[in-house]
Amino acid sequence: MNPMSFDVKRAVAAVGAKLVDPPEVLLVLGSGLGGLVELVEDAVSVSFEDVPGFPPVGVKGHSGRYVAGSLDGRRVLIQAGRFHLYEGLPMELVCAPVRIAAALGVRACIFTNAAGGISRKLHPGSLMLIDDHINLQWRSALAGAVVEGDERFPDMSAPYDGELQRIAVAAALELGERLERGTYAAVMGPSYETPAEVRMLAKMGADAVGMSTVPEVITARAMGLPCLGFSLITNHAAGLSLELLDHDDVMAVGAQARVKLSKIICGVLSRIQS
Ligand code: HPA
Repeated sequence: MNPMSFDVKRAVAAVGAKLVDPPEVLLVLGSGLGGLVELVEDAVSVSFEDVPGFPPVGVKGHSGRYVAGSLDGRRVLIQAGRFHLYEGLPMELVCAPVRIAAALGVRACIFTNAAGGISRKLHPGSLMLIDDHINLQWRSALAGAVVEGDERFPDMSAPYDGELQRIAVAAALELGERLERGTYAAVMGPSYETPAEVRMLAKMGADAVGMSTVPEVITARAMGLPCLGFSLITNHAAGLSLELLDHDDVMAVGAQARVKLSKIICGVLSRIQS
């Protein structure tokens, strides 16, 4: 698909018209992590239904929204809800929210997701700072005509920003919260992995597995935006425990961990230099 067929300018005009100040940081909240929006001051909410080009709610089944405002001293644009490839949606739509945020002025991106733990050190409720990723979705966010302003061949030797990572580790340390580090493998889904696939992922060097984030990070890097990523481990990956994987159970895990992650993110925001 031609990456220019999503009309970013039209979406930016619609969202930008509702914002009071340009946002500095994009915060993408994965499944079940939406609680942070409650903490935003002077919040302005824009439903995804009101963003031209986004699919109608009926198609996606559940709605998402942007919430802009102030959080721990930073002007944030929170994206509560995201589009996934496994929904059958085009790659350009999966990445469009990042392009919209960039056009609205954000200078850094923080991504969160729910993931299955592969590494022995990761258990349901663990938090992992994403150090690196493996793209197993068999497609790139950048395939097709180069989008104006994008780097055609972005360097990916440090997809997650070292300085933002240092800030995240410092924030977790000050809060006394354990923050593991590791490599996130992005798969297509929507079926969970088989035990054999999880053994393969472990051999490849993956510590956690999920179905999102990587296309958005690749897009952000092509635009030169620094990225930070966190995985909330909701389950042991398939075959590593006796439990069968059920989506509702997976999403119910870790209310405490979600609060911890929210605190770490607020700590990061308060430390980011404007
Ligand atoms: N696999 C893939 N995606 C996931 C998982 C998993 O085990 N848990 C949460 N998202």
